[in-house]
Amino acid sequence: MDEVKAIQPIDEKTKWREDFPVDEVKEHYVERREFTKFLLLISGSFVVGQAYIGVRNFFRKSAQQLPIKKIASIDSIKVNSFISFEYPAKGDSCFLIRLTETKFVAYSNKCTHLMCPVIPQMDKMQLYCPCHAGYFDMNNGNPLAGPPPRALARVKLKFLQGEIYAEGMVV
Ligand code: FES
Repeated sequence: MDEVKAIQPIDEKTKWREDFPVDEVKEHYVERREFTKFLLLISGSFVVGQAYIGVRNFFRKSAQQLPIKKIASIDSIKVNSFISFEYPAKGDSCFLIRLTETKFVAYSNKCTHLMCPVIPQMDKMQLYCPCHAGYFDMNNGNPLAGPPPRALARVKLKFLQGEIYAEGMVV
């Protein structure tokens, strides 16, 4: 009598493993050196990216030429008073303040906290932001109290033949 061999069913899920044996543990093992290389590569990419952004901003700022714009005549502003003007573009509201006979200052009216408009308080020599009670020194624009993190943007002034001009911003 012929001996009948039982045919074993082929397990398709594991058959390929026999054909292509892979040591999975070894395959997923990451050496310390490889991991360090990976970290260095990622850190290096961040450093290069930040450096690129810094250099690009530096050149963009230096290339940005703001217009020279007449604000008012010196005689039109009384001591201890202010006028509003727009600089460098329409809608960019600023103040020109006459502190003494010879001292003028000009600032953007955008608060450095969350951009609310500030209000000059001539009697206190301050600029006040009503949104979160921020205060700035009128002499130099520096923050005095409240949440504003830095000074107001200052408008560079130029005096020529009795007229006052804006010729740039210091941020
Ligand atoms: S926006 Fe001026 S203090 Fe917050």
